[in-house]
Amino acid sequence: MKTNSKNIINLNSNREQKFLNFNDFQKQNLNFDISKLQKAYKEIIKIKKFETAGGISHFGAICLTRIPGDPESIKDNKARGLYWTKPDKSGNEVSRDVAIDESTYTELVPEFKNTYFIEVIEVLSSKYKLGRIRILLKEPRSTLSWHRDPEPRLHIPIITNPGCLMVIENVAKHMPADGSVWITNNTKYHNAFNGGEENRVHLVACVLDYKFN
Ligand SMILES: [Fe+2]
Repeated sequence: MKTNSKNIINLNSNREQKFLNFNDFQKQNLNFDISKLQKAYKEIIKIKKFETAGGISHFGAICLTRIPGDPESIKDNKARGLYWTKPDKSGNEVSRDVAIDESTYTELVPEFKNTYFIEVIEVLSSKYKLGRIRILLKEPRSTLSWHRDPEPRLHIPIITNPGCLMVIENVAKHMPADGSVWITNNTKYHNAFNGGEENRVHLVACVLDYKFN
């Protein structure tokens, strides 16, 4: 009887390991000051509204970087960018939005140059080859589409709550707002939702030189 119980526990434990594989959420060996991030966020929302990419519901982005000297490079569809989704019962994949030349987004938007974000971006850029860097908003009780992106994403949660989860394939994870930095495998099908009653705000950067196994 004892042996059987032990076997069942081992079996469950193995099953759990099989299903709870968080390889697509990789915590980085980096940490920023969460109080300074939240203060910098309050500063930028005083001077900039979230871009809705032409009125997409439950999408909000403030671009921190742009193509040098080109304010148009962060407007409308360019605040969102190319992705693939399976919109209907056929399960067929379609592409949406416009392709972006991520490597050309090398200039900090001038209005934000006096905020803590410049320090954060300098550190990140010394470690990774980054594309666009955006502040992304998920409103309460909202979700994205089920989609995949051209490249991985780097996340720094700034404001979150326990009901905010990112789902990659069939694995879900909450990323805490404690200054930690994550790289997520957005080349697989994924989604993010905010099941809380307050906004979820992340700094999100496209990462051009990060390979998942
Ligand atoms: Fe995505």
